[in-house]
Amino acid sequence: MTMTLTPVLSRIWDQPQSWTLPVYERNEGYQGLRAALQKAPGDVTQMVKDSELRGRGGAGFATGMKWGFIPQGGDKPVYLVVNADESEPGTCKDIPLMMANPHELLEGIVIASYAIRASHAFISVRGEVVHVLRRLQAAVAEAYEAGYAGKDILGSGFDLEIIVHAGAGAYICGEETALLDSLEGRRGQPRLRPPFPAIAGLYASPTVINNVESIASVPSILRHGADWFRAMGTDARDDVADKDKPRFRSKGMTLFSLSGHVNRPGQYEAPMGITLRELLDLSGGVRTGHQLKFWTPGGSSTPILTAEHLDVPMSYEGIVGAGSMLGTKALQIFDETTCVVRAVLRWTEFYAHESCGKCTPCREGTFWLVQILRRLEQGQGDTEDFEKLEDICDTILGRSFCALGDGATSPITSSLEYFKDEYLAHFEHGGCPFDPAAATLFQPSAAQGAGGRTR
Ligand SMILES: Cc1cc2nc3c(=O)[nH]c(=O)nc-3n(C[C@H](O)[C@H](O)[C@H](O)COP(=O)(O)O)c2cc1C
Ligand code: SF4
Repeated sequence: MTMTLTPVLSRIWDQPQSWTLPVYERNEGYQGLRAALQKAPGDVTQMVKDSELRGRGGAGFATGMKWGFIPQGGDKPVYLVVNADESEPGTCKDIPLMMANPHELLEGIVIASYAIRASHAFISVRGEVVHVLRRLQAAVAEAYEAGYAGKDILGSGFDLEIIVHAGAGAYICGEETALLDSLEGRRGQPRLRPPFPAIAGLYASPTVINNVESIASVPSILRHGADWFRAMGTDARDDVADKDKPRFRSKGMTLFSLSGHVNRPGQYEAPMGITLRELLDLSGGVRTGHQLKFWTPGGSSTPILTAEHLDVPMSYEGIVGAGSMLGTKALQIFDETTCVVRAVLRWTEFYAHESCGKCTPCREGTFWLVQILRRLEQGQGDTEDFEKLEDICDTILGRSFCALGDGATSPITSSLEYFKDEYLAHFEHGGCPFDPAAATLFQPSAAQGAGGRTR
């Protein structure tokens, strides 16, 4: 593990007009594509496998292996779909990446499409972010003009059409199969698997779906080599007590997005395995005069952690070892002035709103979770509500059709694990025990003496 920042994806973000083709070309732009076109497509896939790049969209699936699942030589076209939906609360890395340097993504798209022999690549962006759509469209036009997209790319004989697609704006349309339905013009709802997208994806053809950051990481691997990428990050054996646990590793650099009660929120590009303590040092620490209370390692779907976990390596294995998930590496920082019950209620309202309604555990469960949490937050609950919450979460977790349902349970079960006293204090005091006027922090014993509702 190293403690320093490693600006690779973000290396030109502070340059004037960083999003334009001339600036990108002056900074090794499209050199990775030139290197890729000198190789056979299968060798490009092998290089990405060797780099051990894992998907940056949340699940951490090995990118090269995913490309290798695409059957070759069939009569159907092959498609690449870039998932740029980015709707998870806290997740905010793909939009800055596409705004600051869209060509890094486009170069990755052409390389990935060449590797899997795709004829068309789609970038599915949530429709609300019109500025991002415009920036992408302008960059795609520049790429076509310069011969990096379209017919006979750089004289290689390889053809690729790139389509920027505006989604209608729903969290579920980030789930990869719902995204395919949405791209096909249908209401976005997850599909039953199998068949997996590699066999029957977009328009029932073999399809790779990758996150923006995953694809944007590919040009640097082609430029500098798989060994260079693999030299950054962690080995599972560093992160887990049991050295015989699976040998998956967390390699390369990645974007960590710090938001909330932190002095300098933003994107921090660092090797996998950096800790929150190190990231807080780099970002000026928790809001001055305050202390860390809880945080999410990878967006609202990942169980919350606390100050106990400041030194946990931010790797897939390290965070799982601490009882959470790395997710999208979206670190939302909450200090002691935050009411955990209120934060969890807000997240749960989001999941209830975004539930697509296809399956009963999630559709009904998220509705009832909100009702109970509202009651608890208003100080009208009782201890039986804990059992009800846990029972509903148990019915949703692992029994929902897609991971949205599972994610909805994470804030609830983890906050009950670490902050049950705070839930109890709400109904003992007939409301929230925080005093916003004095920015009083929650202290179970002090709150009990404070008497009554403060807002
Ligand atoms: C409700 C839900 C929303 C998701 N939203 C996104 C998203 O906005 N972007 C993304 O890349 N992956 C998202 N995912 C994960 C995708 O299903 C998929 O795993 C990912 O796009 C694969 O890309 P990767 O292998 O490069 O990580 C979401 C999953 C779920 C269940
Ligand atoms: S878990 Fe929720 S979002 Fe996913 S299919 Fe079921 S209802 Fe839809």
